Amino acid sequence: MSDTETIRRAAPRRVIVAIDGYSSCGKSTFARAIAARLGYIFIDTGAMYRAVTLHALERGAIRSGIVDEERVVALLDDLTIAFRFNPARGASDIYVNGEPVEGRIRTVEVSNCVSGVSAIPEVRRRLVAMQQELGRRRGVVMDGRDIGTVVFPDAEIKLFMTADPAVRARRRYDELQARGETVSLGEIERSVRARDEADTHRTVSPLRQAPDAVVLDNSHMSVEEQMEWFMRLYRQRTGEPATAEESCASR
Ligand code: DC
Repeated sequence: MSDTETIRRAAPRRVIVAIDGYSSCGKSTFARAIAARLGYIFIDTGAMYRAVTLHALERGAIRSGIVDEERVVALLDDLTIAFRFNPARGASDIYVNGEPVEGRIRTVEVSNCVSGVSAIPEVRRRLVAMQQELGRRRGVVMDGRDIGTVVFPDAEIKLFMTADPAVRARRRYDELQARGETVSLGEIERSVRARDEADTHRTVSPLRQAPDAVVLDNSHMSVEEQMEWFMRLYRQRTGEPATAEESCASR
């Protein structure tokens, strides 16, 4: 093997994996697993929109579910968002202005208001700029609604995740039940369909599949099957072995 090839093998090319798709498809779980497998950073952009929404609720810029756009935009001037690895969780927690908010961004109140906040163009401009900065050095897996279309249109690997709405509702229902929350399956299916409608029909950066994205319908796939599917795609696209062990084994 030539010296150049040894160097190329020793330092695999780091790429961007952009994952977009419908809500409750398991995007974040899958993105986190891919990042762990490749030794990449995982960025949950939905958490960023949720964090801005929580901040707006706490500062009174959303009252009785009504989003005051001007006040939300004014709050952006003094807003910093950061991710810090939490070894206890084995994942990164999100911080707003230095305060940990991970445990408070997935409440029903935040979920109900986040569509209104994420539809504000100035909010999107600010968060997209932060996301682009976070992925500047590549080696990231980012999940959201507009990653392959707006944030990283040049991402090397783009996935568009989907699953049958009834299957997604069932998964969400099981998750909530496990957390001890009582909700009806019918109510969840209605909310899943309403979020699909809001995400795909909003005027600013609606959810749509990038022309060069690969569709992953995981209605009937386990997480392990999805990972095998992804690793085949990763190898095809990058020409790299998947892990350090595989990298050594192939020498
Ligand atoms: O992925 P999630 O359900 O946590 O996302 C929360 C909300 O944020 C969801 O209503 C869609 C919105 N979102 C967005 O508009 N753009 C993104 N890149 C990520 C999420």
